[in-house]
Amino acid sequence: MVAEAVLKADSIVKALHGAFCHDTSRQDLLQMAATRIRETGPPYTGVYMYMLHGDQLELEAFDGRPTEHTSIPVGKGICGRAVAEQQDLNVSDVNADGDYLACSIETKAELVVLIRRHDEILGQIDVDSDVLNGFTEAEERATREIADALAALL
Ligand code: SME
Repeated sequence: MVAEAVLKADSIVKALHGAFCHDTSRQDLLQMAATRIRETGPPYTGVYMYMLHGDQLELEAFDGRPTEHTSIPVGKGICGRAVAEQQDLNVSDVNADGDYLACSIETKAELVVLIRRHDEILGQIDVDSDVLNGFTEAEERATREIADALAALL
């Protein structure tokens, strides 16, 4: 049996589409996505929406613990590495990753899913987890559904 994700992407995607139809701003869509994902609870401890501006990732919305990393150059940290390598990253143990930029000592795992429109990277959904090895493939897929919806709406 394939385990279901705890993240209910369908209902969040529906809510984002609904909000989009009511002229919700980009900022509010990003905030809504962050909040709805974080409300899922463990393994989703903190959700950070970093959008790409030139060669910098800028934090445009988040839900969870605040972070000092509001601007991250491409290539730096796990977030910047995902953009440089043009791929999603699922880091099961952040303390074993030399690139990791710490936000909280409680964080154990991190999932970065790129928001892409065709070949263009618009930004990313960065999720911190207090759970070691927190993100299964099902959670990755569910997070990607939300990233893909945002790519079409932003
Ligand atoms: N841990 C990230 C930085 C972002 S904060 O955790 C929200 C990284 O290594 O790039």
